[in-house]
Amino acid sequence: MNAPRVLFISPQYPAEMNEFTRGLAEVSAEVWGLADGPVSAVPAHVRRYLKGYVQAPLQRPEAVLDAVRATMRAEHIRFDRIECLWEPFVELAAFLREQLGIPGMSLDTAFAFRDKEAMKKRVEAAGLRVPHHAKCATQDEVRAAVRRIGYPVCIKPIAGAGSADTFRVDNDDELSAVLQKTAHVESVSVEEFVEGEEFTFDTVCIDGKPVFYNIAQYHPRPLIARSNEWISPVVVTLRDVGDPKYAAGVELGFKVLDAMGMGTGFTHMEWYRKANGEVVFGEIGGRSAGGHLVDQMNWGNDIDLFREWARAVTWKSVDPALLHLRRPYNCAIIFKRALGEGVITRVEGVERFMQRFGQHVVAEQLLRPGQRRRNWLQTLVSDGFVAVRHPDIGETLRMAESAATDIQLYAG
Ligand SMILES: Nc1ncnc2c1ncn2[C@@H]1O[C@H](COP(=O)(O)OP(=O)(O)OP(=O)(O)O)[C@@H](O)[C@H]1O
Ligand SMILES: [Mg+2]
Repeated sequence: MNAPRVLFISPQYPAEMNEFTRGLAEVSAEVWGLADGPVSAVPAHVRRYLKGYVQAPLQRPEAVLDAVRATMRAEHIRFDRIECLWEPFVELAAFLREQLGIPGMSLDTAFAFRDKEAMKKRVEAAGLRVPHHAKCATQDEVRAAVRRIGYPVCIKPIAGAGSADTFRVDNDDELSAVLQKTAHVESVSVEEFVEGEEFTFDTVCIDGKPVFYNIAQYHPRPLIARSNEWISPVVVTLRDVGDPKYAAGVELGFKVLDAMGMGTGFTHMEWYRKANGEVVFGEIGGRSAGGHLVDQMNWGNDIDLFREWARAVTWKSVDPALLHLRRPYNCAIIFKRALGEGVITRVEGVERFMQRFGQHVVAEQLLRPGQRRRNWLQTLVSDGFVAVRHPDIGETLRMAESAATDIQLYAG
């Protein structure tokens, strides 16, 4: 069979798209890139995987369609797949597929993976537990929804990412303040605020069936981590996904994939477990997770999901090893935020941490003195991270706690 020709949106950004581009090339797909900038903006180590490239303004679907059509005419080619793993353009990929008659996730399905209200409606219609919710376009609608749902509520943009403009609201005073802060957001989702632990359920699916799945836990919950700069957020991919305490979450995850009409590709779902054991759906994306979670899944299992995702979308198969996973490790990633503003001046505690736990460290990408701090509100990665893995969850958490408290970056 000829190598399938895959048009991959934004091969250069975010950084993990470099790896997915590599993955596609490694499973013998003929990879074409599609992005805003000129091909020269794609780093050389990624460009070498590209057979061709289409430059078009991604914010304008019709213009992109014209550009893709022009390329097809000029090159006398068709594309067998159009893929995107970057949230803002998941729908663009579906639009292009539909217009060009290429198989893959439909626009209707992609829309539900993007729109938090449509998503919850579909999950709810399948009889699954979602937070009580309402989509609101005006402040009066928000107030009416809050009266119906009751405090505490969570208010967030309909199409959000990175917990931006997301707030917990406990009373009328807080509501007034949040209404002002979210005035620029076109429409918001008002939800029952679910108290509990927060997890992910990530999959690579073929025809809606997971050929790989993973559970990760957030410490603390993302909304809290994003509201307090002093916190070192930790995400732990769990080795023992068969533990009965996760069974309801896994079952929810599988049913959500059905409800959403998932086909072939990556998904990233978030869910809550309340103190009474009840599990509640949070959200799902039709794409891979950010924040190095794909790396963590790879480190925890000694696999290459960048390549296996590529194999799934290109050939509808995966390495048989994925189907018989041993799951050797838990993997924790600890994101650090420096004290002070500006440029990193010193990093403390890393040497001692490496002495104690070095054999379990799989990555250390902390900023170094002289480097400028990143915006911790915009990127979970913040001022860098340490990642560790261990077969024992207790040991994993102990190392994570040590990295969170004993490593400190300073800026000034
Ligand atoms: N109904 C809710 N009840 C409790 N907490 C919530 C609720 N909705 C959102 N949150 C909190 O806010 C965080 C961000 O919300 P959500 O995941 O819906 O938005 P997002 O902007 O897509 O986030 P991200 O891209 O970081 O996953 C959640 O991880 C959770 O901690
Ligand atoms: Mg989220």
